[in-house]
Amino acid sequence: MRFRLKHLIPTLAVAGSLGGSVLVATAQDYDDTPRVERLQAALNDDRVLFQATVNQQPDDDLLELGQLVAMGGGQQGGSGMACIACHGARGQGDGSGAFPRIAGQAGWYMYKQLNDFASGTRPNEIMTGIAQRLSDEEREAVSAYYAAIDAPVLPTSGQVTGETLQWGGQLGAVGSEERGIPACINCHGPQGTGMAPSVPYLAGQDAAYMAKQLTDWRDGLRDNDPMNVMSAIAAKMTDEDITAVSEYYARVGPQVTAAAPQ
Ligand code: HEC
Ligand code: HEC
Repeated sequence: MRFRLKHLIPTLAVAGSLGGSVLVATAQDYDDTPRVERLQAALNDDRVLFQATVNQQPDDDLLELGQLVAMGGGQQGGSGMACIACHGARGQGDGSGAFPRIAGQAGWYMYKQLNDFASGTRPNEIMTGIAQRLSDEEREAVSAYYAAIDAPVLPTSGQVTGETLQWGGQLGAVGSEERGIPACINCHGPQGTGMAPSVPYLAGQDAAYMAKQLTDWRDGLRDNDPMNVMSAIAAKMTDEDITAVSEYYARVGPQVTAAAPQ
């Protein structure tokens, strides 16, 4: 039986994912930052939850279509470009900073990004055209496919000082009360592994890619964040903050598996 993301009945997935450290961590929220509960409630209003790796098992047909799209095919001849050409054979990214890691990313989050690229709230000269050429079903399928696969994390390359990493870790864990920057862990999870379905992982993501996203939000180029949550945060960050937190998260968590054999 085929299921569609938008047909999934909202499950207790979000309640489950909110049950742990995030609620505890909301103590770090500052007044003008939407609370996680409000954010999730807003997201849940008209959207459907998707947690490919936890509660939902996408059926084989959907994953097969997703894999076909990833390889450059599709129902109407495909998007014209294989995802693997830029995002790596297994969605691991390419380490250049231009092409993000998408393996194991929250499926619903990716589906939303593809819609946002297509609609222009996240304009990108490469991804906009690709997303526009995918049917809705193909966007769902390729998102489900990438959510379901795993890939080794690429080793980080940038040279950074211990102080930079320490400052990044501090912003991640407690934010900056003085400057009104909330702790990233409030929403992205204690280890930066994300909070499916709607909050992406940062741990193991490419540093230069993350820095570009934060800068794009600060400059108003990426304008697709629910309740402007990320643009409000990025607006308060200096270039140094952005570098520090991006370099820090690139080295967190999944990085441990970096040395694992391919
Ligand atoms: C020619 C290179 C190229 C190809 C092919 C490509 N992408 Fe991308 N993709 C990019 C770039 C560049 C970005 C980063 C855009 C930005 O900076 O906002 C991106 C970003 C993304 C993101 C956002 C990731 C995040 O963490 O928010 C998703 C999802 C994505 N691509 C999915 C796909 C899928 C699915 C395909 C195949 C149908 C695909 N891409 C094909 C270059 C490519
Ligand atoms: C109140 C919740 C919340 C907090 C706090 C938060 N984020 Fe986010 N973040 C989000 C959501 C939701 C998204 C997804 C936005 C979208 O749908 O495009 C996101 C997306 C991102 C992305 C884009 C990832 C990608 O793959 O493109 C980056 C980078 C990011 N956040 C960094 C941070 C950093 C750094 C901090 C701490 C300084 C932080 N966030 C704090 C909710 C939050």
